[in-house]
Amino acid sequence: MSTRLRIFPDLVQNPIDPRLYGSFIEHLGRAVYTGLYEPGHPTADAQGFRRDVLDLVRELNVPMVRYPGGNFVSAYDWEDGVGPRAQRPCRLDYAWGVTETNQFGTNEFMAWCKVAGTAPMMAFNLGTRGLDAARQLVEYCNASIGTKFGDQRKAHGFADPYNVRTWCLGNEMDGPWQTGRKTADEYGRLANETANALRQFDPALELIACGSSGPAMPAFAEWERVVLEHCYGQVDALSIHLYVCEAGYKSLADYLACPVVMENQMRDVLAACDFVKAKQRHKKTMMLSFDEWNVWDMARFGAKCERWAEAPPQLEQLYTFADALVVGGMLLALLRQSGRVRYACLAQLVNVIAPIMTAPGGGAWRQTIFHPFAQASRHGRGALLFTHLTGSTHTDTPTHGPSPDIEAVATRDGDQVAVFILHRGQATPAAFILEVEGSTRWRVIEHQLLAAPDPHACNGPDQAETVAPRCAPTPSFAADNTLALTLPPLSWHLLRLAPENAT
Ligand code: AHR
Repeated sequence: MSTRLRIFPDLVQNPIDPRLYGSFIEHLGRAVYTGLYEPGHPTADAQGFRRDVLDLVRELNVPMVRYPGGNFVSAYDWEDGVGPRAQRPCRLDYAWGVTETNQFGTNEFMAWCKVAGTAPMMAFNLGTRGLDAARQLVEYCNASIGTKFGDQRKAHGFADPYNVRTWCLGNEMDGPWQTGRKTADEYGRLANETANALRQFDPALELIACGSSGPAMPAFAEWERVVLEHCYGQVDALSIHLYVCEAGYKSLADYLACPVVMENQMRDVLAACDFVKAKQRHKKTMMLSFDEWNVWDMARFGAKCERWAEAPPQLEQLYTFADALVVGGMLLALLRQSGRVRYACLAQLVNVIAPIMTAPGGGAWRQTIFHPFAQASRHGRGALLFTHLTGSTHTDTPTHGPSPDIEAVATRDGDQVAVFILHRGQATPAAFILEVEGSTRWRVIEHQLLAAPDPHACNGPDQAETVAPRCAPTPSFAADNTLALTLPPLSWHLLRLAPENAT
């Protein structure tokens, strides 16, 4: 029997916010120093930004990058990172046990975003600081000159306001690991008062409150309820985070099925949002900001390093082909929920649990997870289409029960349709039929296939192409608008379609 996907190219489920394909740069490990920024590197531009990294970031097509943390932000004094470099202090970063030199700060990040063609998503320190530091940072970034903080920015060499739209009200404020952790009531009040003040400066800012740090937190869902009961009226989105890893599951099949955890997390948090919406009679519907998600094996790829070292390697996870399939599955989950997810950030971007790796003074290369993300970010835009999938076989998994071997999502951007297909079954190739509804005749522009004989194959500086997509033979549609494919076991596919008569 075949798995059959029916696509309704004229039936849009919801628009997709391009910021679903955001990423994240934290002052952590070598993300900034020897990642984005390495003056003296052979590819560095006049500002010290690595051009080889910029090229790969552009390939990923990320529309927004969150900064400067993460846990780092909760004890960060933003004032340390602006002004003449020689006068910037070195500070101890409690979150990661290292020394921060502050040679890269807010203005350098804004300049990097401009060169990279992306937008900043900034986070405030609501751990050791609060409303006043947040207000001053927003004014520093966005106020016109002729005011205290606008003038300070000008004195630092940046006359034009940056007009940063999107701001995170702290980071993981429920986490025992967070500097300045709060109770839900403390944080909810602080988020509300901070948002209220910032809206007096600019009502159009997009403000994101912290949800709980993950579905395993003891107060998951209750934290969301309490926080939102304080600040629902003042914020636009609620932040959620999730990291998964193979070591957390009982078998490869169990691991490959784990994107369902992400989808359930989104549904559960949305239920809490909608409860508060109903209880407080709000008209506004709360959106989600999935501003940290990825595969991360914290036990193997942790922060351990020489105490108070400067930008040591930390969290440098080497990704496998299986991890790339899981990232593909997580992208499908995000796309299915994109009617309620306005922002999402693959955590992180360079060197730290990242799709892009660099060698100090050397090259930059793509990890396995780079590929499904880049394909979705380039082609999974526009709108989510209605689809109907039947006939997938299921594999029994210890954690998630029966899990479908095949999943697929279709999007439409203008005339073009993109279909993303994940075959996580390990045993046999699967017969797959794609059927496009309606009278339009379609053709395949390209079929890219990501597959590898070994689920634990990795890329590295000298084997950058071990796991990389390749063009598969382009199948043709039959007269009844169906197309037949054979999906190899453990494979990820991008099929791009256009109407036959389109140029
Ligand atoms: O991305 C690594 C860390 O994971 C972030 O600093 C924190 O927010 C999360 O716990």
